[in-house]
Amino acid sequence: MGNKQRLVSTCVKRVTPTKAKNVRSSASSAYVKRLKAALVKKEIYPCTIQQKAHIETSKAKPKPKDLAADARKRLESARFRYLNEKLYTTTSSEAWELFQEDPESFDVYHKGFKNQVLKWPVNPLDIIISDILKGPKHWVVADFGCGEAQMAQTIPNQVHSFDLVAANDKVTACDMASVPLAMKVVDVVVFCLSLMGSNIHDFLKEANRVLRIGYAICGGS
Ligand SMILES: C[S@@+](CC[C@H](N)C(=O)[O-])C[C@H]1O[C@@H](n2cnc3c(N)ncnc32)[C@H](O)[C@@H]1O
Repeated sequence: MGNKQRLVSTCVKRVTPTKAKNVRSSASSAYVKRLKAALVKKEIYPCTIQQKAHIETSKAKPKPKDLAADARKRLESARFRYLNEKLYTTTSSEAWELFQEDPESFDVYHKGFKNQVLKWPVNPLDIIISDILKGPKHWVVADFGCGEAQMAQTIPNQVHSFDLVAANDKVTACDMASVPLAMKVVDVVVFCLSLMGSNIHDFLKEANRVLRIGYAICGGS
């Protein structure tokens, strides 16, 4: 740091408007300019209305980087809402087609879904998990519309996890209107926030097909 620069930073703390006048007479004009700028920045030097307005607007302006991040966030939220609406209003075979053609949209959907879950006081999946944990470990579970297969990753039971896209190796990608399981092989079928699609009767019929007689369907909404 040069002598003049050091002086500017000391002056910022000590110089009053009157003293600043004296400093101006003894220093070079470039130095005075820098000194004034430093004082104005610290808002201890009487500045013009235009200078003040400039300071205020530059403070209020969000950084361009923040603007881009904000726009991206809004776009992702809009895509999540669009996909959610699609899943509730189309048949499951149309939803299957949608994600086959554009698998990236599944990631967008799940990112948006996770953001929503963070805002809830209770995640229904946690309630279903704690209910199943009260039962015997030998119960076989089928998680229809499992998302990222949190159930399979949490409980000790055997879990068959189904979703339109396999987010990880625990998940079998299929339309849950027709899952790759034999008849009467599971004890519990879970639909946690997954009864979407205009043909939910097909999902319930499929659950009924794979369930052993006398066993349960769990829903979370
Ligand atoms: C709101 S998310 C819930 C995910 C998970 N059950 C949970 O609670 O974290 C709904 C899930 O159901 C899936 N889904 C909707 N319709 C489906 C279908 N016909 N077959 C398989 N999965 C389906 C969606 O792809 C999505 O992953």
